[in-house]
Amino acid sequence: MCGICGVVGHRPATPIVFEGLRRLEYRGYDSAGIATLDEGRIERRRAAGKLDNLAAVLETQPLYGTTGIGHTRWATHGAPTENNAHPHGTSRVAIVHNGIIENFETLRTELEAEGQVFETETDSETIAQMVDYYLAAGQSPREAAFATLRRLEGAYAVAMIFAGHEGLMIGARHGAPLAVGFGDGEMFLGSDSLALAPLTRRIAYLDDGDCVVITPEKAEFFDHTGEPVERKIQVTALIAGAVGKDGYRHYMEKELHEHPLVIGQTLQRMVDPATRKVVLPPLPCDLATIPRGVITACGSAYYAGMIGRYWLEEIARLPIDIDVASELRYRNPPLTPGSLGMLISQSGETADTLAALRALKAIGLPVLSVLNAEHSTMARESDLVLGTVAGPEISVASTKAFTAQLTVLACLTIAMGRARGTLDEAGEDELVTALLDLPGKAAEVFSHQADIRKMAGIVAEARDVLYLGRGSAYPVAMEGALKLKEISYIHAEAYAAGEMKHGPISLIDRTVPIVATIPSGPLFEKTLSNLQEAKARGGRLLAFTDEAGAERLSAIAEHTIALPEVHPFVTPVIQTIGVQILAYETALLKGTDVDQPRNLAKSVTVE
Ligand code: G6P
Repeated sequence: MCGICGVVGHRPATPIVFEGLRRLEYRGYDSAGIATLDEGRIERRRAAGKLDNLAAVLETQPLYGTTGIGHTRWATHGAPTENNAHPHGTSRVAIVHNGIIENFETLRTELEAEGQVFETETDSETIAQMVDYYLAAGQSPREAAFATLRRLEGAYAVAMIFAGHEGLMIGARHGAPLAVGFGDGEMFLGSDSLALAPLTRRIAYLDDGDCVVITPEKAEFFDHTGEPVERKIQVTALIAGAVGKDGYRHYMEKELHEHPLVIGQTLQRMVDPATRKVVLPPLPCDLATIPRGVITACGSAYYAGMIGRYWLEEIARLPIDIDVASELRYRNPPLTPGSLGMLISQSGETADTLAALRALKAIGLPVLSVLNAEHSTMARESDLVLGTVAGPEISVASTKAFTAQLTVLACLTIAMGRARGTLDEAGEDELVTALLDLPGKAAEVFSHQADIRKMAGIVAEARDVLYLGRGSAYPVAMEGALKLKEISYIHAEAYAAGEMKHGPISLIDRTVPIVATIPSGPLFEKTLSNLQEAKARGGRLLAFTDEAGAERLSAIAEHTIALPEVHPFVTPVIQTIGVQILAYETALLKGTDVDQPRNLAKSVTVE
């Protein structure tokens, strides 16, 4: 997390870096800052809070120069104050850092003993002080930077500029992403290609352990041993205009409305229109014979994985282990040899998921990743990537990426079922037809937005909300509860509907609304009984069902949303859109910062 942007060139650096930071603000918005070289001197401007605060500082105290670095912060060590804001530096060097320097206390003690004077509470300042120390001892910027990087433990992406060295920037990555953008007589550094999208489409990604020395004309790459290496320039498909709000109030609202589009685009990539068959790229394993699957992810992507588990187990009869990446990584489970590892991530950079990927690969499992960012670290390290075609997702709370992930997992399930002989031709055709109907049905969900807004009126008044669902509607309830917590700051908890009587039923009274995800189908009656139990104890029921379930629910629920009727296989997709809209409408009523909720960041590149 934290966003990094830098430029060396011939144009004023500050507006370029500032624009880059705007596009990176989703990575953190606790503070922001820029440093440039003004006639060789390091000048810095920093501000606590969002980028607008930095803009106000720059208005009264402009920054000049054509070499500059900037940072938008998600605080790890040290409060989100102006003093702890990046860039950190001295009169000789300024640095920006994304990640955590794990041995910073040892290094700081050592440097303080040598007379270096620290100004902040951050781990990151250690990098600046150490470079400064080596520069003061007479080393060149390159020597000082390389010597410092050799001492760092932990995760970092870092960019540095040096007093008296116009047109020089040094970058490095170890566990956190960093990309070099190639312009005409100017070069850029950015945490991702999105930051660099309006500047250039020619991007090279640093490998783990790489350093790069950048001047306006070229980038020289070095691997972790210090040997010069080549890194391929890729032409990204991103276009600058793809990240506007298009007239919507928030990115989240825009991205919610893109559900039908991204489902359709993702299907186009996975289903052959002529044969109506799911087509997968060559796989790193034989789907017919794998004994088990292991799914791991974080946040919303994990809930998409849980829905995937219901599908893969029921339809393809593939046993699935599933856990959040931060747990899977460290609990050292005895995984069956020959199992297929499956990762799900929008960003492809989430540190916990990346660590789990490496752990799975280390024990010899092939890894298939469902990713939105196809140039990400996970994409490079996976054996196979199934891409979600969701486009850039800017709102911190994930929406369209989730349904695109479900679309890929649904297609994977069909391909697995076919390979394993659990799905015949007619069965495959039925499920593919259900998927192809989805974009249209997803668009219909928005005709219920006004009703969902009324429901939000009740939710917005609550301090706690309980979400209930059974089967594949249970992870949908979890996604609904997570979304509500994230953007409206209302405590919400999801429970498997059948489990409510074993605990949370004691919470129920008039003040705790119950949001039920209850599509018609085999689990309808059982879930309805659980809702009756809640109703009998005074609970206020708010139900997301479909046309077939609406009549029965209207009799007991205060609000019933009859979402479009779809094949039971794909109900989680439609239900998800409903609960995401509910969270959005509630956040609007609460007046929270929908796209950038407090304390969160979109891409979490620290464990
Ligand atoms: C963060 C975001 C969540 C997201 C999770 C996983 O916590 O706030 O919205 O679901 O990371 O991100 P990924 O990029 O791996 O899908």
